[in-house]
Amino acid sequence: MSRLDGKVAIITGAAQGIGLGIARVFAEAGATTILSDINAAQGEAAVRGMEPQGGSVLFVSADVTQENEVRALVGKAIDTFGRLDIVVNNAGICTVKSAEQSTVEEWDEVMAVNVRSIFLTTKFAVPPMRKNGGGSLLNVASVSSFVGQQNTPAYCASKGAVLMLTKSLALDYGPDNIRVNCICPGITDTPMLRSHVRHAPDPDAHLQQRLRRVPMGQMLYPDDMGRAAAFLCSDDAKGITGASLVVDGGYISCAEFFPAG
Ligand SMILES: NC(=O)c1ccc[n+]([C@@H]2O[C@H](COP(=O)([O-])OP(=O)(O)OC[C@H]3O[C@@H](n4cnc5c(N)ncnc54)[C@H](O)[C@@H]3O)[C@@H](O)[C@H]2O)c1
Repeated sequence: MSRLDGKVAIITGAAQGIGLGIARVFAEAGATTILSDINAAQGEAAVRGMEPQGGSVLFVSADVTQENEVRALVGKAIDTFGRLDIVVNNAGICTVKSAEQSTVEEWDEVMAVNVRSIFLTTKFAVPPMRKNGGGSLLNVASVSSFVGQQNTPAYCASKGAVLMLTKSLALDYGPDNIRVNCICPGITDTPMLRSHVRHAPDPDAHLQQRLRRVPMGQMLYPDDMGRAAAFLCSDDAKGITGASLVVDGGYISCAEFFPAG
């Protein structure tokens, strides 16, 4: 696994799911790891549950849609550890509703949590990173950055935006040695996935049906995303910026897939 010794990292949406998986892997890889989330009780519990195996871990509550809270989150990292090397923009929400069923408020909330958040963390994290001589911003996009899913127009639009925002920021901050990349998870076992499939009449059958469309045929887990994230944020990836790493068991490589037999 790629090492992150000496690096200070903020991970948003880290109280559960993919964010918590990334935080676990980062701490094991030696990073000083700041877990952040809007859910303070669960975030504090997550930190208590993590064995300090490498770098130290800390929870800081923040709503990624709020400018003041994101500014304070970055400030806390600098005040406590004196530097900031990595921000993983993982916090995200998904509403399962057609456009005509959605309210303007629901549309705006998805865009604020999934996209505006990245603008805000970038705005406040880039100056201290530039001062350090570089850094790494990693956005959690999705297979929905490339292909549509039914009944999730706001989510798919937001994840398409994350992909293009990644490329645009990579151009702006390449000269500062700040790399900007994204990972694009496929079907990953998290509370978000479980609540998404609950909209189907038979959630388990629906999940199995979706997994049959995946060439590798397997569910992915938060730590799988953590290892991909650690690679992109480590010095092993020092030549990589503006990239999207699809971690989906082959899900979006095919229009159709027929398992053997
Ligand atoms: N699970 C999947 O199959 C899958 C697939 C592709 C992409 N993703 C993406 O991965 C990321 C994590 O998803 P997950 O499945 O772990 O979701 P999850 O719902 O299990 O966890 C998301 C976390 O984000 C936090 N959060 C929500 N709004 C916030 C806000 N305003 N400020 C701060 N924190 C906030 C939640 O409290 C929660 O702890 C998301 O960006 C999601 O779109 C997930």
